[in-house]
Amino acid sequence: MTEERLIDKIIDVSLRRGFICPTAEIYGGSGGFYDYGPLGTLLKQKIIDYWRQNFVLDTDNIFEVSGSLLMPESVFQASGHLDAFDDPLIQCNVCNSMFRTDLLIKEAANISAEGLSIEEQDKLIQEHNVKCPKCKEDLGKSRNFNLMFKTEIGPSGGYAGYLRPETAQNIFINFKRLTAFMRNKLPFGIAQTGYSFRNEISPRNFIIRLRQFEQMEIEMFFDPDAEEASSPFEIAEDLKINFVTHEMQEKGWEKPLSLSLQEVKQQNLVPNDYLLYFFALETEMLIDFGVKQEDFWFRHMLPHETPHYSGGNFDLEVNLSIGHKEIIGNAYRRDYDLKKHSKASNSSFTIAYSDGRKVLPHVVEPSLGVDRILYTVLEKCYRDDDRGWSWFQFPSVIAPLEVAVFPLMKKDGLANLAYEVHRELKNSGYISFYDESGKIGKRYARADEIGIPYCITVDYESLEDSSMTIRDRDSMKQIRIPLEDLDITLGELMDSEVEFEDSEQ
Ligand code: GAP
Repeated sequence: MTEERLIDKIIDVSLRRGFICPTAEIYGGSGGFYDYGPLGTLLKQKIIDYWRQNFVLDTDNIFEVSGSLLMPESVFQASGHLDAFDDPLIQCNVCNSMFRTDLLIKEAANISAEGLSIEEQDKLIQEHNVKCPKCKEDLGKSRNFNLMFKTEIGPSGGYAGYLRPETAQNIFINFKRLTAFMRNKLPFGIAQTGYSFRNEISPRNFIIRLRQFEQMEIEMFFDPDAEEASSPFEIAEDLKINFVTHEMQEKGWEKPLSLSLQEVKQQNLVPNDYLLYFFALETEMLIDFGVKQEDFWFRHMLPHETPHYSGGNFDLEVNLSIGHKEIIGNAYRRDYDLKKHSKASNSSFTIAYSDGRKVLPHVVEPSLGVDRILYTVLEKCYRDDDRGWSWFQFPSVIAPLEVAVFPLMKKDGLANLAYEVHRELKNSGYISFYDESGKIGKRYARADEIGIPYCITVDYESLEDSSMTIRDRDSMKQIRIPLEDLDITLGELMDSEVEFEDSEQ
């Protein structure tokens, strides 16, 4: 019997415990669309909250906006998405199934064909004798397939609209107003989180390749001619990151280099310091989310994978059970987008300095995929080898439910007291869950399965001295503490300020 794949275990628990399910499941689903249930939504919100706090609110010069999902054709004509936001599509000559050519080549020959021309990709299909994965027959010739979702705006259907394929474009087209808000002073960043849409040829791997997904993006605008010292960010120079250079990829690599940010800078591996700043934030975020640093790296994308306007793209890739996947894209987009929109709309996007110099800002963009980060968290926190039930070892910062409160029994006033404790915890700002049904051991197992870090149990001793037990999910150990200390102790535990066993009074 073959062992169940990790992704299938994650899908199973996601469906059973209210994390994620296919959209329109009762009608057979719809490829590339998933709905987030109660726990999935809480988890997603925690990811977004973390990003908002650490990438946006903690700075003085990055502000968040919220733009339309649907925009007129002119936006995407100017941005180049209507002409060139394509993937190569190949069709089977016999069963007519359709596939993304570069993905087929990657699967069949382990060659990265992303960004190669249609002709080059078809040549690789021939050379490696790649057949239709469904019926094993010959494939036809590839063609470009545009990923934009089109619709009509207004009752007369008079003009075309498109769902945005990235959140970034709202920011570029509002640049004049945003610059005025920022008092014409560079550098500044504009952040946005929300849905993006791509009519992917082969949606797959659960929430990894979707047709509707959520992004958290920042467009960091700066003067390309200013001294690096003008960057408002302090770089954590000693922080080590994992990095894969062009040279390593040309020779074939097995392990990324571990370099301090200072070494990355000294070796000129990135075009500017803004990228280093975001590499540090992304590294710290994933570690805080429970992902081991040995499992992810920044890969300098090869020239044929890099968009023509880019001055360097650096994908954050994770070693997942389904292969190496990009979950964050970092791009140095230069002034490409501002130039395009400025020309098409006949607007000037330059910023004038008091000495008369005029600057069209350049842009660095960290683009984080919420769904892919969330899948990474599910996979890296999943445990099923040691306690007879599967559980998620979510760090408190990401746990969808932070604490559960149980009465040992429903009777003798235990339920009333436990419910009161639960309400007090909610009032103090914890995401608390109350559960009184079933045996206490079952309730602990159910709480573990959805990754609740701490369970409070109200028992007969609680009625006498107002003390209660806290159970630690990771060690399964319990300590007893007085009710009046509960709020503070939980806070210290969740912020990792104390060890669990040292919390006992
Ligand atoms: N604005 C730049 C941009 O959109 P990208 O590399 O195409 O760059 C950035 O996308 C991130 O968005 C990816 O790293 C990924 O996490 C997420 N993403 C892109 N396409 C996706 C899809 N079809 N399904 C799920 N997430 C996707």
